[in-house]
Amino acid sequence: MWTKNKIPDLSGKIVIVTGANTGLGFETALALYEKGVHVILACRDLHKAQQAIAKINEHKGTGIVEAARLNLESLKQINEFSEVFIQKYRQLHVLINNAGVAMPPASKTSEGYELQFGVNFLGHFALTGLLYPLLLTTPDSRIVTVSSNGYQGALIDFDNLRSEKDYNPIREYRQSKLANLIFSIELNRRIKAKDQKILSIAAQPGANKTALTRHLSEEEIAIGKERLGEFMEPWQGALSLLYAAVSDESVGGSMYEPENSGLRGYPTLANIQENAMDEAVAKRLWHFAEQATGIHFPGS
Ligand SMILES: NC(=O)c1ccc[n+]([C@@H]2O[C@H](COP(=O)([O-])OP(=O)(O)OC[C@H]3O[C@@H](n4cnc5c(N)ncnc54)[C@H](OP(=O)(O)O)[C@@H]3O)[C@@H](O)[C@H]2O)c1
Repeated sequence: MWTKNKIPDLSGKIVIVTGANTGLGFETALALYEKGVHVILACRDLHKAQQAIAKINEHKGTGIVEAARLNLESLKQINEFSEVFIQKYRQLHVLINNAGVAMPPASKTSEGYELQFGVNFLGHFALTGLLYPLLLTTPDSRIVTVSSNGYQGALIDFDNLRSEKDYNPIREYRQSKLANLIFSIELNRRIKAKDQKILSIAAQPGANKTALTRHLSEEEIAIGKERLGEFMEPWQGALSLLYAAVSDESVGGSMYEPENSGLRGYPTLANIQENAMDEAVAKRLWHFAEQATGIHFPGS
């Protein structure tokens, strides 16, 4: 059983956690702070981020915690965040692509992509690409991308990424989380092909009590609970993210998830389904993301 007690002292490490003001991102940032990490909470609402910092500082820890504004809906914002970050910190040991939006009313990003695909996938693609030069020059760096058990059975509909067809909130959420996983695996392939030293690892946290369900009605939440069973406290779901981020045993190209059907329990290696392993889809998605964001990973 892997718990946060297994995390070694990580003093001197710099880690970005996107969407760290609440839920799984908050618990991940807190655990890293406790072990000496300099954690940057990359959040779209700086007031919420400051409140999270105040809560983290109530805990015993040897780290440093700071906030920076990052709205993954907007390429302009992602560019600004990355530029300032690179200037200020000069190193990045772990980037944790955690922020996410689930099942909102039909809406689009500033660039016209379906919101969940845009924020959860394209936003993190752009962020990772912009920070990539820093990750390349930081020894033992990692990129952790957060997917979901819901990727299973999903597919990337290349003809509907701007919501050209009807809007189905859950289908689009699952598509975005499949895109996260395909990205993580494809990035690892590209890293290996170039003999680069970064690890790209996915994590999925299982079923957790967080604000992710904020766009759902009480009735829809009750149906979800009936289907998925009891939800965990977010500190426990965060363990899969933490395992991917810091364990010596986590491997590039893999995904870590809770041990009981990927829904509850302590982190274990996931058995990734074929829909996330298709290299032709991965290449097409990568190309699409490059065109959509204008961002090309150096050396990939
Ligand atoms: N909870 C689960 O059971 C579960 C299961 C599978 C996967 N996941 C994944 O786990 C990750 C974290 O989710 P969570 O459960 O912790 O949800 P959460 O409590 O709702 O937290 C989501 C975070 O993402 C941020 N966010 C949303 N839109 C953003 C944007 N445009 N730009 C920047 N940040 C944005 C939110 O900021 P605001 O607070 O300002 O909105 C919040 O900080 C997500 O990727 C989710 O898909 C969660």
